[in-house]
Parts: sequence; structure tokens; C-alpha cells
Amino acid sequence: MKALVLSGGSGTRLRPFTHTSPKQLVPVANKPVLYYVLEAIAESGITEVGIVVGDTAAEIREAVGDGSRFGLDVTYLPQAAPLGLAHAVLIAREFLGDDDFVMYLGDNFVVGGISSLVEEFAQSRPDAQILLTRVPDPTAFGVAELDDSGRVVGLEEKPAKPKSDLALVGIYLFTPAVHEAVRSIVPSDRGELEITHALQWLIDHGRDVRSTTISGYWKDTGNVADMLEVNRSVLEGIEPATEGTVDAATELIGRVRIEAGAEVRGSRIVGPAVIGPGTVITGSYVGPYTSIAENCRIEDSEIEFSIVLRDSHLDGVRRVQASLIGRNVTVTPAPRVPAGNRLILGDHSKVQILT
Ligand code: G1P
Repeated sequence: MKALVLSGGSGTRLRPFTHTSPKQLVPVANKPVLYYVLEAIAESGITEVGIVVGDTAAEIREAVGDGSRFGLDVTYLPQAAPLGLAHAVLIAREFLGDDDFVMYLGDNFVVGGISSLVEEFAQSRPDAQILLTRVPDPTAFGVAELDDSGRVVGLEEKPAKPKSDLALVGIYLFTPAVHEAVRSIVPSDRGELEITHALQWLIDHGRDVRSTTISGYWKDTGNVADMLEVNRSVLEGIEPATEGTVDAATELIGRVRIEAGAEVRGSRIVGPAVIGPGTVITGSYVGPYTSIAENCRIEDSEIEFSIVLRDSHLDGVRRVQASLIGRNVTVTPAPRVPAGNRLILGDHSKVQILT
């Protein structure tokens, strides 16, 4: 069995971060989302992985390399334009050959891995198997309709009037039967070849499409609220460790991980929180559910329930909450005179100011 990981896409809902970095590389507890995906694949025993890449191919290649670090053998499959998930299967035809495969969207996050799923599929081998989960707003996803016996009878992509609250999780298992389906469908209204339509094609042609409904934790990390939520949930499970330097005037409370080369002076850090290598924190409060990446400086500031990416600097700022701060960002207080906010923000930034 092989794996096909999708790491193209433009990540419009995560702008401005995705202007400079692929969404799959935004870190959760200081580790890119895509690494969790690759670790889950390796754990399931699969070694041959095709990664479909688009405009951000260079960054993905730099982050993943040949895959050996994960115990994987990675082949990169360039997709000229983000023409849909089924299009990704189409261009991966040669790599996939006649093998069964798991398709995993590189921005999806599940807890508990995919090992039992892969094993069950390899044994029962329906033509395709999908994962479903109940969500409050199904209109943002592919939605499945099941009959009384639990068989999948219909699938719709982001329906205005969903027939159920069962969303398609971005992990799919296929036999080679899917290849005929992806060749047979036409682009959707959003101009993409939808995998949802390929699955519907299989159902319409009498193929066996099964579903497993998961109740565990799942998020599509396509937007900031979900990123913060996934970060929160991963941090809850971290092992506390102090590999960096912490002075006597600092208080560490709860699950806090201070990574090698980090330095904390005269501060209070309330976990769960992780402080990346080379980051220096002085005279500050870092509250629960915060991940600060490498080489940041946090001085005389307060921050909680947030993600700060590498090389950023907070100096003298209070009450930063529920925030996602990009790379190389500087946040400082406004001078008292003139009384006004001064903003230098990239395209598609979002700022909320105290009034
Ligand atoms: C894609 C699929 C959708 C699925 C979702 C899961 O949506 O088209 O059916 O529910 O992934 O993350 P997209 O991320 O392309 O909007």
C-alpha cells in the first residue's frame, strides 16, 4: 500500500501566513502539521509516499527532504495548478501504479493515527473507504448521506443545504478502482475535479464505498481558529521538560517545555506551553496553550492561547490572546503621543485593536 499526501493548495483562509509559507508547514506545538501526517503514515507501516506539491513545492521539499527522517521514501509529484483532489489522483497515476493507497490531505489533523484504519482496509478491501465525523457546520465540507444500514448513498461537496452533519475527513482509502472514476468526472462549479464526485461516481456504478464514522478529534487546519484549537489540544499532551536555561526568578507552572538553547529570565510561564530553541523570554507572562517557535524574543509582555512563529519579537505588549503571529514580526506598544495606532500590516492581515 502507498500513501498520497496532498500539499498543494493556496490556503486562502490562512492568509497572510500562506503568502510566505505553505499552510501545511504552519507549526502546531512547534512542529509543522505535515510532520504529524507523515508520522502517522510511517506508523501505519506504509513507506512509499507521493507528495503532491504546487506553488510551494520548494518549501515542502526543504522541510521534508527525501523522507528518510520519517522512515519514508518520498516522491514529489508536481501539480501545475490546484485543480482539485481528484486531479491530484489523476496526476499521481504512474506513481500509484496498481496499488491500494491512502490519500491524506496535508492540512488535516487526527488524533490516534491511521494504523487500524489501514489494516482494516487491507483486510476487507472495499473499492473505497471514507472517514466521517459529525460537525456543527457541514456546509464547509464534503457531506455524506447514509442509509439506515449505514451504507453511503450520496455525497455532496460543500452543500448549501446539507443532508446530514457527517463531514468527510481528509483521509481516504482507495483501491485502483478510483482511477476510472477520476477520469470520468468533470470539474465542479469551483472549477476543481472533486474527490467527492469521484466517490459518488463509484457509488453510482455499484462499487462498494464504505464509511467509518470517527468520534475522536479531527480538524482541518485551514483557518486560524482551528490552528489555535489543534495547538491547544496537542499541547495538552506534551511532556514537560527544561532543556534550556531558566533563572531562579522564573516560575514554571504545569506542562511547560523549554527547548534546548531557550532562555527564560524573571518570567512566569503557565502551561501547557512550549518555548522553542534559541528563544529568549524576559520579564514576561506566557499563559496556557501557547507555542513560541525558535529564535523569538518576548520582553516585558503578556501572551496566552497563541502561536508565535520563528524570529518574532514582542516588546512591552499586554494581553496578546488567541493570536497567530507570523515569522519575523515585531509587536511593540504605540507611543503615548500622538494617541493612535500605527500599523504596518501585510496583505490579508487581520487585527483587532482595543478601543
Ligand atoms: C476538502 C474536501 C472536503 C473535505 C475537506 C476536509 O475540502 O473537498 O470534501 O471535507 O477537504 O478537510 P477543501 O480543503 O479543499 O476545502
